[in-house]
Amino acid sequence: MYRQIVILTGAGISAESGLRTFRDQDGLWEEHKIEDVATPEGYARDPELVEAFYNTRWSQLHNGDVEPNEGHLALAKLEKEFDGELLVVTQNIDDLHERAGSRRLLHMHGELSKGRCPRSRQTFILKDPFGPAHTCTCCIPAQRLRPHVVWFGEMPIGLDRIQHALDSCDLFIAIGTSGTVYPAAGFVDTANHHGAQTIEVNLVEADRHSQFQYHLQGKASQVLPELVDKILKGQVISNSSCDVTDSLVLKSAN
Ligand code: OAD
Repeated sequence: MYRQIVILTGAGISAESGLRTFRDQDGLWEEHKIEDVATPEGYARDPELVEAFYNTRWSQLHNGDVEPNEGHLALAKLEKEFDGELLVVTQNIDDLHERAGSRRLLHMHGELSKGRCPRSRQTFILKDPFGPAHTCTCCIPAQRLRPHVVWFGEMPIGLDRIQHALDSCDLFIAIGTSGTVYPAAGFVDTANHHGAQTIEVNLVEADRHSQFQYHLQGKASQVLPELVDKILKGQVISNSSCDVTDSLVLKSAN
């Protein structure tokens, strides 16, 4: 039986909803330079270019075609039915976890649906794509809102709360993340340090693969419903419970 669970999600969980990941083949970083669209310096150089990058993602999320998949839904079910502590920490800026029903959720890299006042840091919901007309109502003169997104070189959101949750969790699951961006990539080390069980769910063995005790290889939409059912039944993942499904490989990384 687990009592406190921390789940880290990355772009891979939204891939099956039709959102591109960053580093897979045809990923966003093949087409865009990180320093142009995901750094404060890039924004200072060319705010319109950066806004256009996030507006494309914003429009895709709002065009009615994108929906949460079975992976998001499984995590929302876990939150609803699990009677211990649970926190989903997502690196994703989409709102598919919310749409699936997750509420105990922290967007450590920000949210596409919000703009932020650069002076007061107050956030505002964006009802339409970004533009110079989007200004804050908290300052005089009103400030141009910037995307509420954490860029490289900036501090992720909610690190104290995440650290606290990791310090006391007994299960840590990382789903659909390449393990290349810190501090998220280091969360597994903290969880291991505190004696938690650690599980990676991914199509491949990702960068921090060797740090996880277990690796569930497969699509998040297929792996998560079964994994969640096991957790809700009070089963603990172990070498003798390698039957998550026939098509999945559960292997101990040690
Ligand atoms: P990446 O694009 O780096 O990695 C996506 C991971 O998802 C890869 O390891 C894939 O193998 C895996 N994957 C793809 N489809 C999957 C599926 N259906 N089921 C399970 N796994 C799947 O995305 P992130 O790790 O989220 O930050 O990237 C981390 C951060 O880098 C992002 O938040 C963003 C980016 O730069 C900022 O912009 C600050």
